[in-house]
Amino acid sequence: LTGGALTVGGVVAGAAATAGLSGDSSKAASAAPAMFGGNVVPFHGGHQAGIDTPAQAHGTFLAFDLAAGVDRAALGRMMRLLTDDAARLTQGRPALADTEPELAALPAHLTVTFGFGPGLFAAAGQEAMRPESVAPLPAFAIDRLQPRWTGGDLLIQICADDPMAVTHAQRMLVKDALAFAKPRWVQRGFRNSRGVQDDGVTQRNVMGQLDGTRNPALGTAAFDAAVWVDSGPSWLHGGSTLVVRRIRAEMETWDAVDTTGKEFSVGRRLASGAPLTGAREHDLPDYKATNALGLTVISDTSHIARAHVDGDRQRIFRRAYNYDEGPGPDGRSDSGLVFASYQRDVGAQFLPIQRKLAEADLLNDWTTPIGSAVFAIPPGCQPGGWIGETLLG
Ligand code: HEM
Repeated sequence: LTGGALTVGGVVAGAAATAGLSGDSSKAASAAPAMFGGNVVPFHGGHQAGIDTPAQAHGTFLAFDLAAGVDRAALGRMMRLLTDDAARLTQGRPALADTEPELAALPAHLTVTFGFGPGLFAAAGQEAMRPESVAPLPAFAIDRLQPRWTGGDLLIQICADDPMAVTHAQRMLVKDALAFAKPRWVQRGFRNSRGVQDDGVTQRNVMGQLDGTRNPALGTAAFDAAVWVDSGPSWLHGGSTLVVRRIRAEMETWDAVDTTGKEFSVGRRLASGAPLTGAREHDLPDYKATNALGLTVISDTSHIARAHVDGDRQRIFRRAYNYDEGPGPDGRSDSGLVFASYQRDVGAQFLPIQRKLAEADLLNDWTTPIGSAVFAIPPGCQPGGWIGETLLG
């Protein structure tokens, strides 16, 4: 399994002390940075890495269109090549024929995760193996989708705690993919840098909100029940599905809202992340509690009231990144979320939530979906195997 990170490069213990820093020696030791450039996340296992891996600071999502004539045999060749690249690079080894092999030495928790879009099943002559909801999402009234951020036959999600590791892996993987496919879109995202806060602490998104509080926790039965496919076509067992939505944050109008209004729209406090009916971040929201006027304290149209579902198998796992491509020439921001959610079944889990949000979520006033894509995420593979072998082998 791909859970935790394994330290290969190790910690450069006492670097500050050996560098001759003067003063209290215990202080010098605690000030020594923990180097994580050499850390690797195992590539092989029952699940692909990059899903139950603590979200790294940098994430790039690359979608490709398959070239005409690429069939099942060609897809098998492509995935063998790409798997080999990923298996080497994630372990800090150069890809075969790596043109910049030195850049592979510091993977910094690099993971590479592959996904298959609807068109790949058609190209492989494997339509019957496509889960029904691995298809473009139905149109929602809130959507302003742009083709340049939408769709795709093949997805490569590349994440690491260092942008150079992501860039190098991207270059190697794209080079090998080009014989079979051409890039359709690329979305780059970021989270807090590792070390800025303790691992496992909920991070803020570009809108300033603590985002991820009620996500299924890594390594729990609730996570497994929500994320890993265990029914339907057996080729996908141990895999998952991924929805990527590019959601623009309307920062200019959001900035004009006062704190009370912002908190009302989500149903949580900005400073603490606590529900409006609680005091601490992880207090359970009371959706029924009413105020003196008899109105629910957490509005029925708040984001958390609309997004909440009961039952672990109904939940989704959000592994979102922020993006910021602005400012535009007019000075306006161009930022938001590369929203990414993993779940067993898009139709049974993601869609009911997205429908409720699209119907009436106060947050819709300040968020606009501008891209959308859905992928099946094959299970992992063992050494000598390749990602996708259960479908294409
Ligand atoms: C919760 C922000 C889009 C599903 C939250 C929370 C925030 C937030 C601040 C509360 C803290 C937490 O539990 O994480 C945003 C922003 C979005 C966005 C800024 C768009 C830019 C979406 C979308 C979906 C979604 C598209 C799914 C279709 C959820 C779920 C929860 C949640 C399931 C947890 C609800 C609960 O059980 O309490 N989101 N969200 N969000 N969001 Fe979003």
